[in-house]
Amino acid sequence: MERELALEIVRVTELAALASAPWMGRGDKFSADNAATTAMRTMFDSVSVRGTVVIGEGEMDEAPMLYIGEQVGSMNGPEVDIAVDPLEGTDIVAKGLNNAMSVIAMAGKGELLHAPDMYMEKLAVGPALAGKLKLTDPIELTLRKAAEELRKPISDLTVMILDRRRHEEMVRSLRKVGVRIKFLSDGDVAGAMAPAFPEAGIDLYAGSGGAPEGVLAAAALKCLGGELQGRLMPADGSEYNRCIQMGIENPYNLLSMDDMVGHGDVIFAATGVTPGEFLGGVRYLPDQRAETQSIVMRAKTRTIRFIRTVHYLPSKPLLYPK
Ligand code: FBP
Repeated sequence: MERELALEIVRVTELAALASAPWMGRGDKFSADNAATTAMRTMFDSVSVRGTVVIGEGEMDEAPMLYIGEQVGSMNGPEVDIAVDPLEGTDIVAKGLNNAMSVIAMAGKGELLHAPDMYMEKLAVGPALAGKLKLTDPIELTLRKAAEELRKPISDLTVMILDRRRHEEMVRSLRKVGVRIKFLSDGDVAGAMAPAFPEAGIDLYAGSGGAPEGVLAAAALKCLGGELQGRLMPADGSEYNRCIQMGIENPYNLLSMDDMVGHGDVIFAATGVTPGEFLGGVRYLPDQRAETQSIVMRAKTRTIRFIRTVHYLPSKPLLYPK
Protein backbone atom coordinates (compact mmCIF):
# COMPACT_ATOMS: atom_id res chain seq x y z
CA MET A 1 0.00 0.00 0.00
CA GLU A 2 1.31 3.44 -0.93
CA ARG A 3 1.91 5.75 2.01
CA GLU A 4 -0.16 8.48 0.33
CA LEU A 5 -3.22 6.33 1.00
CA ALA A 6 -3.03 7.36 4.66
CA LEU A 7 -3.74 10.95 3.71
CA GLU A 8 -6.41 9.92 1.23
CA ILE A 9 -8.39 8.01 3.85
CA VAL A 10 -8.21 10.73 6.47
CA ARG A 11 -10.14 12.95 4.07
CA VAL A 12 -12.85 10.30 4.09
CA THR A 13 -13.10 10.09 7.90
CA GLU A 14 -13.04 13.90 8.09
CA LEU A 15 -15.99 14.21 5.75
CA ALA A 16 -17.96 11.52 7.58
CA ALA A 17 -17.31 13.23 10.93
CA LEU A 18 -18.36 16.61 9.52
CA ALA A 19 -21.53 15.07 8.10
CA SER A 20 -22.62 13.44 11.37
CA ALA A 21 -21.62 16.26 13.75
CA PRO A 22 -24.71 18.41 13.01
CA TRP A 23 -26.76 15.56 14.54
CA MET A 24 -24.92 15.76 17.86
CA GLY A 25 -27.36 15.90 20.77
CA ARG A 26 -30.52 15.57 18.64
CA GLY A 27 -31.58 12.13 19.87
CA ASP A 28 -31.54 10.67 16.37
CA LYS A 29 -28.81 8.07 15.99
CA PHE A 30 -30.13 6.77 12.67
CA SER A 31 -29.80 10.14 10.92
CA ALA A 32 -26.37 10.68 12.46
CA ASP A 33 -25.24 7.28 11.15
CA ASN A 34 -26.89 7.75 7.78
CA ALA A 35 -25.19 11.13 7.27
CA ALA A 36 -21.76 9.67 8.14
CA THR A 37 -22.27 6.58 5.97
CA THR A 38 -23.45 8.54 2.94
CA ALA A 39 -20.53 10.96 3.21
CA MET A 40 -18.00 8.16 3.67
CA ARG A 41 -19.35 6.14 0.75
CA THR A 42 -19.36 9.17 -1.56
CA MET A 43 -15.81 10.19 -0.65
CA PHE A 44 -14.46 6.63 -1.04
CA ASP A 45 -14.83 6.92 -4.84
CA SER A 46 -11.76 9.17 -4.83
CA VAL A 47 -9.46 6.82 -2.86
CA SER A 48 -6.85 5.13 -5.07
CA VAL A 49 -7.61 1.50 -4.24
CA ARG A 50 -9.54 -1.52 -5.45
CA GLY A 51 -11.11 -2.10 -2.07
CA THR A 52 -13.46 -4.72 -0.68
CA VAL A 53 -15.42 -3.86 2.45
CA VAL A 54 -14.89 -6.73 4.92
CA ILE A 55 -16.23 -4.90 7.96
CA GLY A 56 -18.97 -2.44 7.20
CA GLU A 57 -22.53 -1.41 7.82
CA GLY A 58 -23.93 -4.95 7.55
CA GLU A 59 -24.84 -7.52 4.93
CA MET A 60 -25.80 -6.44 1.40
CA ASP A 61 -29.52 -6.97 2.13
CA GLU A 62 -29.41 -4.90 5.34
CA ALA A 63 -27.24 -1.95 4.32
CA PRO A 64 -27.52 0.09 1.13
CA MET A 65 -23.95 1.39 1.40
CA LEU A 66 -20.63 0.14 2.70
CA TYR A 67 -22.06 -3.36 3.02
CA ILE A 68 -19.82 -6.40 3.43
CA GLY A 69 -18.42 -7.36 0.04
CA GLU A 70 -19.03 -3.95 -1.58
CA GLN A 71 -16.27 -2.84 -3.93
CA VAL A 72 -15.10 0.69 -3.17
CA GLY A 73 -12.38 3.06 -4.33
CA SER A 74 -11.36 4.57 -7.65
CA MET A 75 -10.42 1.03 -8.88
CA ASN A 76 -6.88 2.24 -9.62
CA GLY A 77 -4.36 1.10 -7.06
CA PRO A 78 -3.72 -1.88 -4.80
CA GLU A 79 -6.29 -4.52 -3.90
CA VAL A 80 -7.11 -4.00 -0.24
CA ASP A 81 -9.43 -5.14 2.55
CA ILE A 82 -11.32 -2.29 4.13
CA ALA A 83 -12.92 -2.06 7.58
CA VAL A 84 -15.13 0.95 8.23
CA ASP A 85 -17.29 2.38 10.94
CA PRO A 86 -18.55 5.68 9.52
CA LEU A 87 -19.93 6.57 12.94
CA GLU A 88 -18.52 4.57 15.84
CA GLY A 89 -20.83 5.51 18.70
CA THR A 90 -24.19 6.36 17.15
CA ASP A 91 -25.83 6.70 20.58
CA ILE A 92 -22.99 8.89 21.75
CA VAL A 93 -23.74 11.42 19.05
CA ALA A 94 -27.49 11.18 19.61
CA LYS A 95 -26.99 11.87 23.34
CA GLY A 96 -24.16 14.40 22.98
CA LEU A 97 -21.66 12.26 24.92
CA ASN A 98 -17.93 11.60 24.44
CA ASN A 99 -15.77 9.33 22.26
CA ALA A 100 -17.63 9.15 18.92
CA MET A 101 -15.36 8.83 15.89
CA SER A 102 -15.43 8.03 12.22
CA VAL A 103 -12.99 5.17 11.51
CA ILE A 104 -11.32 3.35 8.60
CA ALA A 105 -8.68 0.61 8.59
CA MET A 106 -7.09 -0.80 5.47
CA ALA A 107 -4.79 -3.80 4.90
CA GLY A 108 -3.70 -6.01 2.01
CA LYS A 109 -6.30 -8.27 0.41
CA GLY A 110 -7.20 -11.22 2.66
CA GLU A 111 -5.49 -9.76 5.75
CA LEU A 112 -8.41 -8.46 7.85
CA LEU A 113 -10.58 -10.86 9.84
CA HIS A 114 -14.14 -10.91 8.53
CA ALA A 115 -15.53 -10.41 12.01
CA PRO A 116 -19.19 -11.32 12.35
CA ASP A 117 -21.56 -8.90 14.04
CA MET A 118 -21.52 -10.36 17.58
CA TYR A 119 -19.71 -9.73 20.85
CA MET A 120 -15.99 -10.26 21.31
CA GLU A 121 -14.19 -10.56 24.62
CA LYS A 122 -11.25 -8.13 24.51
CA LEU A 123 -8.08 -7.27 26.35
CA ALA A 124 -6.25 -4.24 24.96
CA VAL A 125 -3.03 -2.64 26.12
CA GLY A 126 -0.48 -0.06 25.04
CA PRO A 127 3.17 -0.71 24.08
CA ALA A 128 4.38 -1.16 27.69
CA LEU A 129 2.17 -4.24 28.17
CA ALA A 130 2.07 -5.60 24.61
CA GLY A 131 2.95 -9.31 24.58
CA LYS A 132 2.97 -9.49 28.39
CA LEU A 133 -0.62 -10.50 29.25
CA LYS A 134 -3.10 -13.22 28.30
CA LEU A 135 -6.83 -12.79 27.76
CA THR A 136 -7.30 -16.37 28.97
CA ASP A 137 -5.85 -15.63 32.44
CA PRO A 138 -8.21 -14.72 35.29
CA ILE A 139 -8.53 -10.92 35.42
CA GLU A 140 -6.97 -10.79 38.93
CA LEU A 141 -3.79 -12.45 37.62
CA THR A 142 -3.74 -10.15 34.56
CA LEU A 143 -3.87 -7.11 36.83
CA ARG A 144 -1.11 -8.43 39.09
CA LYS A 145 1.11 -9.04 36.04
CA ALA A 146 0.27 -5.59 34.63
CA ALA A 147 1.13 -3.85 37.89
CA GLU A 148 4.44 -5.73 38.05
CA GLU A 149 5.34 -4.84 34.45
CA LEU A 150 4.42 -1.20 34.95
CA ARG A 151 6.16 -1.13 38.35
CA LYS A 152 3.28 0.44 40.17
CA PRO A 153 0.92 -0.64 42.91
CA ILE A 154 -2.13 -2.50 41.65
CA SER A 155 -4.34 0.22 43.19
CA ASP A 156 -2.79 2.72 40.75
CA LEU A 157 -3.96 0.77 37.69
CA THR A 158 -6.87 2.18 35.69
CA VAL A 159 -9.04 -0.18 33.67
CA MET A 160 -11.54 0.98 31.07
CA ILE A 161 -14.68 -1.06 30.45
CA LEU A 162 -18.07 -0.53 28.80
CA ASP A 163 -20.74 0.31 31.39
CA ARG A 164 -22.96 -2.73 30.81
CA ARG A 165 -24.92 -5.19 32.94
CA ARG A 166 -23.02 -8.10 31.39
CA HIS A 167 -19.85 -6.72 33.03
CA GLU A 168 -21.19 -6.79 36.61
CA GLU A 169 -19.13 -9.83 37.59
CA MET A 170 -15.94 -8.44 36.04
CA VAL A 171 -16.54 -5.10 37.78
CA ARG A 172 -16.93 -6.91 41.13
CA SER A 173 -13.55 -8.62 40.52
CA LEU A 174 -11.93 -5.30 39.57
CA ARG A 175 -13.32 -3.63 42.73
CA LYS A 176 -12.05 -6.51 44.86
CA VAL A 177 -8.54 -6.09 43.49
CA GLY A 178 -8.81 -2.34 44.06
CA VAL A 179 -8.03 -0.87 40.64
CA ARG A 180 -9.64 2.31 39.33
CA ILE A 181 -12.39 1.82 36.75
CA LYS A 182 -13.19 4.29 34.01
CA PHE A 183 -16.57 3.40 32.54
CA LEU A 184 -17.31 4.00 28.90
CA SER A 185 -20.89 4.68 27.79
CA ASP A 186 -20.21 3.47 24.22
CA GLY A 187 -17.46 3.59 21.62
CA ASP A 188 -15.05 0.83 22.45
CA VAL A 189 -12.75 1.40 19.47
CA ALA A 190 -11.60 4.57 21.25
CA GLY A 191 -11.73 2.70 24.57
CA ALA A 192 -9.44 -0.09 23.37
CA MET A 193 -7.04 2.40 21.76
CA ALA A 194 -6.85 4.57 24.90
CA PRO A 195 -4.14 2.52 26.75
CA ALA A 196 -1.73 3.35 23.91
CA PHE A 197 -1.96 7.09 24.76
CA PRO A 198 -0.18 7.82 28.06
CA GLU A 199 -2.13 11.09 28.42
CA ALA A 200 -5.39 9.10 28.59
CA GLY A 201 -4.23 7.57 31.90
CA ILE A 202 -5.66 4.13 31.12
CA ASP A 203 -3.59 0.98 31.57
CA LEU A 204 -5.90 -1.69 30.19
CA TYR A 205 -9.14 -2.04 28.30
CA ALA A 206 -11.17 -5.13 29.25
CA GLY A 207 -14.60 -6.66 28.73
CA SER A 208 -16.74 -7.41 25.73
CA GLY A 209 -17.87 -5.21 22.87
CA GLY A 210 -18.61 -5.57 19.16
CA ALA A 211 -16.35 -7.96 17.22
CA PRO A 212 -16.07 -5.64 14.18
CA GLU A 213 -14.98 -2.85 16.55
CA GLY A 214 -12.38 -5.29 17.94
CA VAL A 215 -10.76 -5.66 14.51
CA LEU A 216 -10.77 -1.88 13.97
CA ALA A 217 -9.11 -1.33 17.36
CA ALA A 218 -6.57 -4.11 16.65
CA ALA A 219 -5.63 -2.32 13.40
CA ALA A 220 -5.08 0.92 15.33
CA LEU A 221 -3.09 -0.82 18.07
CA LYS A 222 -0.83 -2.48 15.50
CA CYS A 223 0.16 1.02 14.32
CA LEU A 224 0.53 2.23 17.93
CA GLY A 225 2.67 -0.73 19.09
CA GLY A 226 -0.04 -1.96 21.45
CA GLU A 227 -1.98 -5.21 21.43
CA LEU A 228 -5.55 -6.44 21.43
CA GLN A 229 -6.40 -10.07 22.11
CA GLY A 230 -9.93 -11.17 21.34
CA ARG A 231 -12.28 -14.11 21.52
CA LEU A 232 -15.60 -14.27 19.73
CA MET A 233 -18.68 -14.88 21.87
CA PRO A 234 -21.32 -16.52 19.66
CA ALA A 235 -24.53 -16.22 21.66
CA ASP A 236 -26.32 -19.19 20.06
CA GLY A 237 -26.16 -21.81 17.32
CA SER A 238 -27.01 -19.34 14.58
CA GLU A 239 -24.20 -16.94 15.59
CA TYR A 240 -21.87 -19.94 15.78
CA ASN A 241 -22.86 -21.01 12.26
CA ARG A 242 -22.41 -17.47 11.05
CA CYS A 243 -18.75 -17.61 12.21
CA ILE A 244 -18.25 -20.84 10.27
CA GLN A 245 -19.87 -19.30 7.15
CA MET A 246 -17.50 -16.36 7.47
CA GLY A 247 -14.51 -18.72 7.38
CA ILE A 248 -13.72 -18.85 11.13
CA GLU A 249 -13.00 -22.53 11.74
CA ASN A 250 -13.05 -22.54 15.54
CA PRO A 251 -15.09 -19.58 16.74
CA TYR A 252 -13.96 -20.00 20.38
CA ASN A 253 -10.25 -19.72 19.58
CA LEU A 254 -8.22 -16.89 21.01
CA LEU A 255 -7.63 -14.29 18.29
CA SER A 256 -4.18 -12.72 18.12
CA MET A 257 -3.25 -9.48 16.37
CA ASP A 258 -2.08 -11.51 13.35
CA ASP A 259 -5.41 -13.37 13.24
CA MET A 260 -7.31 -10.08 13.17
CA VAL A 261 -5.13 -7.77 11.08
CA GLY A 262 -2.66 -10.06 9.31
CA HIS A 263 1.12 -9.89 9.01
CA GLY A 264 1.50 -6.99 6.60
CA ASP A 265 1.03 -3.25 6.59
CA VAL A 266 -2.08 -1.60 8.01
CA ILE A 267 -3.28 1.96 7.57
CA PHE A 268 -5.71 3.45 10.09
CA ALA A 269 -7.49 6.79 10.25
CA ALA A 270 -10.04 8.19 12.69
CA THR A 271 -11.63 11.62 13.04
CA GLY A 272 -13.32 12.69 16.26
CA VAL A 273 -17.02 13.54 16.07
CA THR A 274 -17.41 14.30 19.79
CA PRO A 275 -14.44 14.86 22.15
CA GLY A 276 -12.64 11.76 23.39
CA GLU A 277 -9.58 10.45 25.22
CA PHE A 278 -7.13 11.40 22.46
CA LEU A 279 -9.07 13.34 19.79
CA GLY A 280 -11.19 16.46 19.96
CA GLY A 281 -14.61 16.46 18.33
CA VAL A 282 -15.85 18.60 15.44
CA ARG A 283 -15.67 22.24 16.53
CA TYR A 284 -17.62 24.97 14.74
CA LEU A 285 -15.78 28.20 13.97
CA PRO A 286 -16.95 31.60 12.74
CA ASP A 287 -17.48 32.20 9.01
CA GLN A 288 -19.08 28.86 8.14
CA ARG A 289 -16.00 26.84 9.09
CA ALA A 290 -15.34 23.82 11.31
CA GLU A 291 -12.22 22.20 12.72
CA THR A 292 -11.65 18.44 12.86
CA GLN A 293 -9.02 16.44 14.74
CA SER A 294 -7.83 13.17 13.25
CA ILE A 295 -5.23 10.52 13.81
CA VAL A 296 -3.73 8.71 10.83
CA MET A 297 -1.18 5.95 11.19
CA ARG A 298 0.71 3.31 9.30
CA ALA A 299 1.90 0.05 10.88
CA LYS A 300 4.92 -0.40 8.59
CA THR A 301 6.65 2.79 9.73
CA ARG A 302 4.71 3.27 13.00
CA THR A 303 4.19 6.90 11.96
CA ILE A 304 1.42 8.52 13.97
CA ARG A 305 0.06 11.79 12.64
CA PHE A 306 -2.37 14.04 14.46
CA ILE A 307 -4.08 16.28 11.95
CA ARG A 308 -6.10 19.39 12.77
CA THR A 309 -7.96 20.60 9.72
CA VAL A 310 -10.06 23.69 9.19
CA HIS A 311 -12.84 23.12 6.65
CA TYR A 312 -15.10 25.57 4.87
CA LEU A 313 -18.58 24.12 5.14
CA PRO A 314 -20.85 23.97 2.10
CA SER A 315 -23.78 26.39 2.37
CA LYS A 316 -26.26 23.58 1.65
CA PRO A 317 -24.91 20.45 3.34
CA LEU A 318 -26.27 17.03 2.49
CA LEU A 319 -28.59 15.41 5.05
CA TYR A 320 -28.54 18.38 7.43
CA PRO A 321 -31.09 18.45 10.28
CA LYS A 322 -34.13 20.61 9.38
P1 FBP B 1 -22.62 1.70 17.41
O1 FBP B 1 -21.83 2.85 16.96
O2 FBP B 1 -22.85 0.70 16.32
O3 FBP B 1 -23.86 2.14 18.10
O4 FBP B 1 -21.71 0.90 18.48
C1 FBP B 1 -21.35 1.48 19.70
C2 FBP B 1 -20.71 0.46 20.62
O5 FBP B 1 -20.55 1.04 21.91
C3 FBP B 1 -19.36 -0.09 20.16
O6 FBP B 1 -18.30 0.77 20.34
C4 FBP B 1 -19.25 -1.33 20.99
O7 FBP B 1 -18.33 -2.26 20.47
C5 FBP B 1 -20.67 -1.86 20.98
O8 FBP B 1 -21.51 -0.72 20.74
C6 FBP B 1 -21.07 -2.49 22.28
O9 FBP B 1 -22.33 -3.06 22.14
P2 FBP B 1 -23.46 -2.97 23.27
O10 FBP B 1 -23.99 -1.56 23.25
O11 FBP B 1 -24.48 -3.96 22.82
O12 FBP B 1 -22.82 -3.30 24.55
